[in-house]
Amino acid sequence: MGENYGEKPKPSRRDFVAQALGLGALLARPARLLAQETLPTRPIPSTGEALPVVGFGSSKPVLESPTEGTEPIANVIRTLLEYGGRVIDTSPRTEAIDRDFGRVLQDPELTGRLFLAAKINTDGEQNGIDQWRQTQRLFGRRTVDLLQVESLRDVDLHWPNVRAWKDSGEARYIGVTVSANARHGSMETFMRENSPDFLHVNYSPLENGAEDRLLPLARDMGMAVLINRPFMNGSYFGRVAGKELPSWAAEFDCETWAQFSLKYVLANPAVTCVLTETTNPEHMEENIQAAFGRFPDDATRGRMRELLRSF
Ligand SMILES: NC(=O)c1ccc[n+]([C@@H]2O[C@H](COP(=O)([O-])OP(=O)(O)OC[C@H]3O[C@@H](n4cnc5c(N)ncnc54)[C@H](OP(=O)(O)O)[C@@H]3O)[C@@H](O)[C@H]2O)c1
Repeated sequence: MGENYGEKPKPSRRDFVAQALGLGALLARPARLLAQETLPTRPIPSTGEALPVVGFGSSKPVLESPTEGTEPIANVIRTLLEYGGRVIDTSPRTEAIDRDFGRVLQDPELTGRLFLAAKINTDGEQNGIDQWRQTQRLFGRRTVDLLQVESLRDVDLHWPNVRAWKDSGEARYIGVTVSANARHGSMETFMRENSPDFLHVNYSPLENGAEDRLLPLARDMGMAVLINRPFMNGSYFGRVAGKELPSWAAEFDCETWAQFSLKYVLANPAVTCVLTETTNPEHMEENIQAAFGRFPDDATRGRMRELLRSF
């Protein structure tokens, strides 16, 4: 089995405590009361700054906020913070949605504790400038931790400005994203020519193309790596629905199908942080637990891919 990044935590201890105390309610909402483990971290290669290895991809709860309100976003972020997590990935939405999201991000309970990643996702240089200025205004901050050009969209036009905003202190780090294997070739070219601080790419056991070239290249070039689509935007759960988790998953401290994918991702040493998108604090917590305990080695990761492909 692979490297052991932290002590296997708690469902068992939590359950034990709750059962010993006869607290059914505690079992229903236990871990946020008893959260004690702190997420393991990995360094951002260019500075050595430590990043917790599980972060929050905010798309779904942010897009749902006009009907569901912003409390689900805040609840998931609070759960992440309770475990020492802090990476929050965002993407520009409508002005109304981002104004509400910005209020959450400026909550004194949360602000100052986050590693906030923002994006530019529009065509045209001036639109990119306007979009960034709007994000700064709606999020109530001059500086974000990471500014990314999403899906390499008009990246040749935006990148010189993004670099300038790093120089002026408006972005601590800069990067680029893709979320489809078809864009990996363009991403490789961009990385080689521009050396961004961060690569942000899709990666999971069923979508593992990044491990051929992009992840080794990021390692060689000293780039931090954020991962999107660990659950293929949820379709992974359709694939494993009704299937039993194999008994050998226990050999790498994996208790659920969500952790099966996340442990596969985190076993890759090039990965700095995996973003998991959720509206549900209990899912966030389940995903955080994947960062503790053992990780699968290469042979086991091959077995994981084979099993999932057989479904
Ligand atoms: N080009 C880009 O820059 C780009 C593209 C795509 C994504 N991203 C980033 O990556 C983030 C992740 O998004 P994704 O599309 O890659 O989504 P994902 O994390 O692969 O999957 C999200 C889906 O999984 C479900 N889920 C999460 N944890 C679960 C658990 N423990 N058990 C059961 N279901 C669970 C969520 O539903 P529930 O709400 O029910 O938990 C949601 O439907 C995005 O939010 C965004 O930050 C970036």
